[in-house]
Amino acid sequence: MNVYDSERMADILAPVGYEITEGPDDADLVILNTCHIREKAAEKVYSDLGRLRLIKDGREGTMLLAVAGCVAQAEGEEILSRAPYVDMIFGPQTYHRLPEMVARAHRQAGTVLDTDFPPESKFDHLPAPSAGGRTSAFLTIQEGCDKFCTFCVVPYTRGSEFSRPVAQVMDDARGLAVGGIREITLLGQNVNNYHGAAADGEWSMGRLAAELAGIEGIQRIRYTTSYPADVDEELIAAHRDVPELMPYLHLPVQSGSDKVLSAMNRRHSADDYRRLVDQLRAARPDLALSSDFIVGFPGETDRDFQDTMDLVAEIEFVGAYSFKYSPRPGTPAAAMGGQVDKTEKKNRLAALQDLLNAQQRAFNESCVGRTMAVLLDGPGRHPGQLLGRSPYMQAVHVDAPARMSGEVVDLKIETAHPNSLAAVLAADERVVA
Ligand code: 5AD
Ligand code: SF4
Repeated sequence: MNVYDSERMADILAPVGYEITEGPDDADLVILNTCHIREKAAEKVYSDLGRLRLIKDGREGTMLLAVAGCVAQAEGEEILSRAPYVDMIFGPQTYHRLPEMVARAHRQAGTVLDTDFPPESKFDHLPAPSAGGRTSAFLTIQEGCDKFCTFCVVPYTRGSEFSRPVAQVMDDARGLAVGGIREITLLGQNVNNYHGAAADGEWSMGRLAAELAGIEGIQRIRYTTSYPADVDEELIAAHRDVPELMPYLHLPVQSGSDKVLSAMNRRHSADDYRRLVDQLRAARPDLALSSDFIVGFPGETDRDFQDTMDLVAEIEFVGAYSFKYSPRPGTPAAAMGGQVDKTEKKNRLAALQDLLNAQQRAFNESCVGRTMAVLLDGPGRHPGQLLGRSPYMQAVHVDAPARMSGEVVDLKIETAHPNSLAAVLAADERVVA
């Protein structure tokens, strides 16, 4: 979502004369768009600021420096005191006010701070997103979270749940399709709890996905990130009935232990997750799953961790993000007893990642010999090569003419690497055979 937000910041600054530069050295304005989810991401902000300060000092007052995003939202005052040379600090819900903030920063001496949760929606004030010559685009449909998992800062930094109205989402999607976008990834912190206002009531994400699939030019729809307990019948039906909905789902489970899931306030058990996966796979048998995991949550024992390993072994994920639990200020879990030792967290993470990596490799290898529809979206590593994405988000390299860029093409997978696949055009392959 930060990638999407950064693009929208560029969109709203374009009419007042800003364009993207290659790097910070010749920029009139540098915006650090930040993430607060784990301590490592948040601490990086201060080291990056130190580096940018040197550039700013050499620019004799011609460069503005801004901190945006969730670190700005959560630690605005701390940034002010640790880095008073920053010109603007603003959170994820106020960046539609950027032109006005820039004007104020030019006028006034101190830092402009805007970390409100404003009553108006920023989406009502942003220009329509542009395709920008690409084939794949993000589209935020939902933001914020009311789930309050005990480890997570998102409900505090992004604010409460909000769904964009259906008409606004459809307009953005149509505009993107006309601009050449073939694949849309719907974004939200809890995207499948979408309930957008429409003329005939509220639409779920399943219904929205089916409607988006009808837009001329849109060939692929994805969504991220989803919350297991909010997957409803309509969404499961969409996986069965809407071929444009890609058979790849990021469905974070966090842990395989019911005790830990309950302490995390996840509102589902490990067996609920298993049953949900069964239902989704019954609807779409070729569905591949990825997930998020946290190891070393307070109170997690060896037995609890083994439950996570067992769940992973059973479900078989094709990709995953896994993290050591990182205590976040102001969240309930940070104050819980039973914080897990650093070395223990490290060992558990290594064991989990070994298993997840082996599953990813096995899945990639199982693709060899198969023909897959790949969206070719740009040049590959070597001349004459294009790079695309399989339905399962795998990077696929193929020798193909540049004119095929932007098309969904059948490719025969020839080789599997840990993080990518190599393929030939299925049409060529038939000729050779
Ligand atoms: N520590 C470790 N990982 C976390 N995540 C969220 N908060 C924390 C935390 N405090 C992970 C979760 C979530 C993903 C986006 O980041 O797995 O799904
Ligand atoms: Fe954070 Fe996701 Fe839980 Fe919301 S549902 S609190 S965003 S982990």
